[in-house]
Amino acid sequence: MIKKLLFMKLKSLKQANVYHKKVLLRVDFNLPIQRGKITDERKIRAVAPTIKYLLKEKAKVILISHLGRPNGKKISKYSLRPIARHLRIKFNSDCYGKKVKQAIDKLNWGEVILLENLRFWPGEETNNLFFAKQLSNLADLYVNDAFSVCHRLHASVVGITKFLPSYAGLLLIKEVNSLDQVLNYPAHPLVILMGGAKINTKLNILTRFLSVADHILLAGGLANNFFLARGAQIGRSIKQTELLSSTKKLLNQPNIILPIDCRIGNLTVKNKLVKTVHLNSKKQKICSSTEAILDVGPATRQLFAKYIKKAKMIIWNGPLGLFEDKRYAQGTKKVWQIIAKQSKAKIIIGGGDTLACLPKRISQKNIFLSLGGGAMLKFLAGQSMPGLTPLIKNIK
Ligand code: 3PG
Repeated sequence: MIKKLLFMKLKSLKQANVYHKKVLLRVDFNLPIQRGKITDERKIRAVAPTIKYLLKEKAKVILISHLGRPNGKKISKYSLRPIARHLRIKFNSDCYGKKVKQAIDKLNWGEVILLENLRFWPGEETNNLFFAKQLSNLADLYVNDAFSVCHRLHASVVGITKFLPSYAGLLLIKEVNSLDQVLNYPAHPLVILMGGAKINTKLNILTRFLSVADHILLAGGLANNFFLARGAQIGRSIKQTELLSSTKKLLNQPNIILPIDCRIGNLTVKNKLVKTVHLNSKKQKICSSTEAILDVGPATRQLFAKYIKKAKMIIWNGPLGLFEDKRYAQGTKKVWQIIAKQSKAKIIIGGGDTLACLPKRISQKNIFLSLGGGAMLKFLAGQSMPGLTPLIKNIK
């Protein structure tokens, strides 16, 4: 497609001797938690084969993960403790140091411990090598089974590989192999559907897709940035004003398709006002200063359906609206129904938020689910994946 990665060969965990070894396993437990309860277990189920394999080999499994974006601060709502409770495994409220080491020493061979959210420490997101070294002191080897963060230059993804023998977990290998197939055998018309709230990573990736995708359908924060760049007023809608000049450069791209109507809510009123606004002119006042765009409207759903039905390959990342609130879930729901019932295309859907909107069990053989959102798009756009590079065979 964009840059062929030619069936990347990763060093598999199965090539390592893990018997009676302390294994630091990087997972993605960035799960939706509501009132202390996990509402979607998909990411846990996906990583289970790697954990089971290590337990069968009588390794001590030290799970490390991030949750949300606490920006280097300990914020209790982002603690991983509820996940340890849910899984009935041991938990430590630090992620390195003497106490953690002691807790690991006390584990039986074939037992699991989960450490606290890596992003509580600023060293994680700055790829601080001292922090990475502290993590490495806990184990004999490192396994990365979190494809969804392989696009991030973080200590538990990249720095750590400088200090420990490093391998790819079973889930990571499965994801990379499946996406590699897509990368090498694209089908046209290729439709890319991008929504969600994370604008910065996606805008850059979108630029890379312009030359290969037949149609790029935008919703969510990305679409809002386009409305703003056109001169519209979007009130309190999700946006990133610092990206306006890069957004403006993309305004006249013929293969970018923007919503033609949207659902608006009033954020200051408890019982939010819900109305549909048709987008008739570029400089339109779409929202007042207390309102926000929270979903695409019915005309946009029909417009997107037209492209989806004709596509031979569809790549989808990001909900089309504020899916958690059922008043703004229609865009995502209806598009999913069209994809599931009316499309015979090869479909790749990725990202934690997107998967959380879909039914728990999906039987269609033409649909591949990737746990990576930004990571999946970056991989398919042929961009560098710093977390994968140290795991490629013969690279060191
Ligand atoms: C995800 O849910 O997409 C992954 O956990 C990555 O999260 P991040 O975008 O905060 O790095």
